[in-house]
Amino acid sequence: MEKEELNQLVLDKLTKVCLCKGISRATMKKAIIGGADTLEKVQKATGAGSGSCHGNRCTPKIEELLRAAKENQMKLE
Ligand code: FES
Repeated sequence: MEKEELNQLVLDKLTKVCLCKGISRATMKKAIIGGADTLEKVQKATGAGSGSCHGNRCTPKIEELLRAAKENQMKLE
């Protein structure tokens, strides 16, 4: 693994996408790579969106990750 990829992986693990549930960007990416290709599927796979804000904060971030994945811009590992 190259240094840039390693840095990205560390950042993904540290960055919380769903603050209410403490779910990292790495977990979101794993779900998307595993086949969750809609907001609802990512939420079901990760538990995101079920916190006290009811997804108000994490939904736009998940949609952005899905958009990036569809455009093949997501680093897969
Ligand atoms: S940030 Fe995800 S439910 Fe609140």
